[in-house]
Amino acid sequence: MSNAPIGVFDSGVGGLSILRQLRILLPEEDVLFFADQGHVPYGPRPLDEVRRFSIGLARFLIDQGAKLIVVACNTASAAALKELRAAFPSTPFVGMEPAVKPAAEQTRTRTVGVLATPATFQGELFASVVERFAQGVRVLPQTLPGLVERIEAGDLDGPETRHIVQAAVRPLVAQGADTLVLACTHYPFVIPAIAEAAGPGVQVIDPSPAIARQAARLLEERGLRANHDHHGQITFLTSGDPARLREMAQRLINEAGPARPASWDSSGSALRLDG
Ligand code: DGL
Repeated sequence: MSNAPIGVFDSGVGGLSILRQLRILLPEEDVLFFADQGHVPYGPRPLDEVRRFSIGLARFLIDQGAKLIVVACNTASAAALKELRAAFPSTPFVGMEPAVKPAAEQTRTRTVGVLATPATFQGELFASVVERFAQGVRVLPQTLPGLVERIEAGDLDGPETRHIVQAAVRPLVAQGADTLVLACTHYPFVIPAIAEAAGPGVQVIDPSPAIARQAARLLEERGLRANHDHHGQITFLTSGDPARLREMAQRLINEAGPARPASWDSSGSALRLDG
């Protein structure tokens, strides 16, 4: 048993879609939630840069006492999950991988679309998931340039957001996709816009509940669950504006907690708390 916090990180508010599921399943756990908003978006960056940020974030969260880390970011998982496990062997990690397996099992048209950032498609992880799980199903990768920035700005259904979503989703549906995989943790916040662009008969797969279940399983296996009567608290951390992150957490997932700033060193490899 351990009342140490779970560490969760993303480039920004996307990680809140994972935090929401963690809170439902593990309300007794304390969480340190880090949004690297000084660097968002990660998606257009080279993989080695995202890897450097991810290692710095994990080290920071472990130094703050994290007992398990959820990499609540597909881009960071694609860039760094293997290296994180190798660099911090005594910390369990839960990472994101595109949910091609359930999509391939559910599609009737044998065509699925995967929505993710450019870096996620470049990593080995995506190729390996397709190789292992596509089973002859056609997998269409699709990026949504600018969408993460719109979501960070709090625009979930304005004309620009809907335009980006439509331009990405309609060609997939036109090619016969009846199943869309959300492979970026920001995208669950625009499911209504995605569903509207896709039209009826297209299902959208959001892996966030499965990620929370995996975190619960790992904690259980390692004997790291918090006391049942503990009331879990969230601490928000950001390399951007803490007041803004707190406001978005309230708005997007109705969660509150103290928010603190942290800064990167000049090489972008180590973080420290401000103030
Ligand atoms: N939420 C992230 C992901 O799951 C990162 C998006 C970004 O920063 O580009 O990929």
